[in-house]
Amino acid sequence: MMEPVADPECATLAESAITIDSCLHDGRERSLADDVLDGLTRPFKELPPKHFYDARGAELFDQICELPEYYPTRTERAILQASAEELAALTGAAELVELGSGTAAKTRMLLDALHEGGTLRRYIPVDVTETMVRSCAEELTSEYPGLKVHGVIGDFERHLDRVPDPTGARLVVFLGGTIGNFPPGSRRRFLREIARLLGPGDHLLMGADLVKDPQVLTQAYDDAQGVTAEFNRNLLRVLNRELRADFDPEDFDHVALFDREHEWIEMRLRARRAHTTTVHDLGLSVHFEQGEEMRTEISAKFTRERVEDDLAAAGLELVSWLTDPEELFALTLARPPR
Ligand SMILES: C[S@@+](CC[C@H](N)C(=O)[O-])C[C@H]1O[C@@H](n2cnc3c(N)ncnc32)[C@H](O)[C@@H]1O
Repeated sequence: MMEPVADPECATLAESAITIDSCLHDGRERSLADDVLDGLTRPFKELPPKHFYDARGAELFDQICELPEYYPTRTERAILQASAEELAALTGAAELVELGSGTAAKTRMLLDALHEGGTLRRYIPVDVTETMVRSCAEELTSEYPGLKVHGVIGDFERHLDRVPDPTGARLVVFLGGTIGNFPPGSRRRFLREIARLLGPGDHLLMGADLVKDPQVLTQAYDDAQGVTAEFNRNLLRVLNRELRADFDPEDFDHVALFDREHEWIEMRLRARRAHTTTVHDLGLSVHFEQGEEMRTEISAKFTRERVEDDLAAAGLELVSWLTDPEELFALTLARPPR
């Protein structure tokens, strides 16, 4: 029996083992409209990566994770596999809060270890993609008897205050190297927001993609089969559908480049011809010169020192630095200082 619970900000539906808070309503559309108005009227056009993930975008991202060139997912999975037990013992977590949870595919290794360790009580997935949160809640409550799932359908940049109060030792996980999508200033601000979710004895487990050979990096974001190119162009389809824009995705080439100065990957869309697009819902005409590029994602790469400095700026200390033999990717465990 689904039982509606009154909440002025978020719509809450509670079932015995599953509670879902939806913080988006029309807020999602407003945030997309604001981001498009802001990003497409800048001298260097730019859109934030969170709008990639409609149902098609999420499906394409899953395909990217299986590509031979895309090492981060399989490497992070291998590190998790090797260290899940140790992490479960170190954190003794009763609840796991996951930011950008997606399908929680890799998270299951941690859930398994915490479940076997006998400490796990609750999982709190936070994701903008509603279908992901809902299907994840259904699957995990049937896979882990006794587990409660409190899903938050929301934007982790705006809705962290909707994460329910802790009920025991907490582990916040932020996997996939998604922290790299923030430019350095916002990254530290966001880490400070995350730190507010942590009390004494709580931990943050974060995946960070490491600085490496630029060719390996650019290939990971520009695969031979063109799946990443399709993922990038899908953003234009999201704008066409949600804001009645009239982009022709075939007017744009996918570009992935490594910025050596900032040590980050940039994904861009480059106009193949000069043209003007209308975003009808915003009454906005946007002109692109031939060859003009619009930035759709940055993905910063890390060294141990960069991670440690960012964590320290957020008032957190590094407890464990877990990496693979080739040092492609790192999982970092941090906590508030004791
Ligand atoms: C790169 S995927 C990572 C998924 C998964 N954690 C992993 O490691 O494979 C990013 C996920 O974060 C979600 N996401 C992206 N931006 C978000 C935001 N601002 N707030 C909440 N979720 C977001 C997407 O819907 C997607 O499921």
